[in-house]
Amino acid sequence: MAKAKETTFFCKECGFESPKWSGQCPSCKEWNTMVEAPAAPKTKGVMRKGIAAGIVSGDAKPSTMAEVSAAEEERVRTDIGEFDRVLGGGIIKGSLVLVGGDPGIGKSTLLTQICKSLSDKGIEVLYISGEESLKQIKLRANRLGEFTPQMKLLCETDLNTIEEVIASEKPEVVVIDSIQTMYRQDVESAPGSASQVRECTNLLMQIAKGMGVTIFIVGHVTKEGVVAGPRMLEHMVDTVLYFEGESQGPYRILRGVKNRFGSTNEIGVFEMRSDGLREVKNPSEFMLLGRPEGASGSIVSCTLQGTRPILVEIQALITRSALSNPRRSATGLDYSRMYMLLAVLEKRLGFHLSECDAYINVVGGMKINETALDLAVIVAIASGYMDFVVDRQTMAIGEVGLAGEVRNVNMLEQRVKEAEKLGFNTCIVPKAGLKTLKNIKGIRIIGVENVKEAINTMKNALNESPNIV
Ligand code: TYD
Ligand code: MG
Repeated sequence: MAKAKETTFFCKECGFESPKWSGQCPSCKEWNTMVEAPAAPKTKGVMRKGIAAGIVSGDAKPSTMAEVSAAEEERVRTDIGEFDRVLGGGIIKGSLVLVGGDPGIGKSTLLTQICKSLSDKGIEVLYISGEESLKQIKLRANRLGEFTPQMKLLCETDLNTIEEVIASEKPEVVVIDSIQTMYRQDVESAPGSASQVRECTNLLMQIAKGMGVTIFIVGHVTKEGVVAGPRMLEHMVDTVLYFEGESQGPYRILRGVKNRFGSTNEIGVFEMRSDGLREVKNPSEFMLLGRPEGASGSIVSCTLQGTRPILVEIQALITRSALSNPRRSATGLDYSRMYMLLAVLEKRLGFHLSECDAYINVVGGMKINETALDLAVIVAIASGYMDFVVDRQTMAIGEVGLAGEVRNVNMLEQRVKEAEKLGFNTCIVPKAGLKTLKNIKGIRIIGVENVKEAINTMKNALNESPNIV
């Protein structure tokens, strides 16, 4: 009897491999992500992983810390400041960078602009597309401006051919758009399958380290379908960037989620225009654009994205509910944190929020996952519930504990300075943080110990209603 062809099962999300199928991935716990694929070929004389990645020399001799030179890696600036910031100051020779994002969000546009900027400086770049024809690429490029001869294009999906082209053309920077369209002849499965995507990335890693070229890989985020997503590649590459935003809206955020050569969580903000992506140098300004005048349930706070303080508006709409189970909705905010803050107001200040629908919104599409914005959420809810207006020039920062106490947050000074820069005149901060703000002169600082104090301060500033006791 002929031996059955060997197959294994991969998780499309995280790349977990298993000899048998299961409905839920045992590793990342996602459902319906396991797909069948032929087992990876057992090639003879496989390079050891570390040698392939260029980090192991082959002779196994340990070094002392003192012997290791830690000179800063040389970086090439792309001169697109928002992009350089997320990379940690520029691109590093021989690094492999994954740029993930939803289809249509603007990944190809972003990378074409990066290529333009680099080739304008005389750096040889090669843009390889497996998705669009040369004509389509040209049509996009026409919107972005004139290109120099240092920018070369290639439409190809066979990675073995691509390797030969890179070896002969010797570009300094290569873009692969997208990894899901690439295939290797020696891997027996369709392009976009988990094993193709993984093996192709492996080969690209060898090319990047072996030839010292910087390679950007585009990866589409996919929820459905047979295409393997970029998440399973995260552990293989040096840097992972995600391009996010509402595809209907103009704003896009580039977020670093992994960086072997810099800090993560840095963000770059762009605006999609008819002539490509434009950098947004002052995100606080655009996050606050179009704030309502004299409306209750709105206050500004400051979030820290990487090292960058950004002002955001928090809105709360609190209405009497006709339902026995009132509606709760949180946009841009953690759901369970919202429930906790609602409970604090219910218990500590006696608000009857269990009779109300509550909608909380972080304006501008920013996703907040830090507790420093608790106080602003509390004030927005109180302002919405009691129908008082918070002064437009006032900002609130602080973490809120279960007893209703306002606790200190990290980097308070940077956050207050950002508000000062944008012309705010009052800042409500945790009392415990006052001593870190000695050098702030241009803005009035009010330290509060608990949420009741904070709310009363806000109410008294503009409204003549009595305090809550
Ligand atoms: P694209 O870079 O092709 O997205 P991706 O590679 O992530 O799939 O860009 C998609 C959208 O951007 C497309 O709907 C058109 C829009 N766009 C602009 O609004 N302005 C421009 O200058 C360009 C080039 C594209
Ligand atoms: Mg594209």
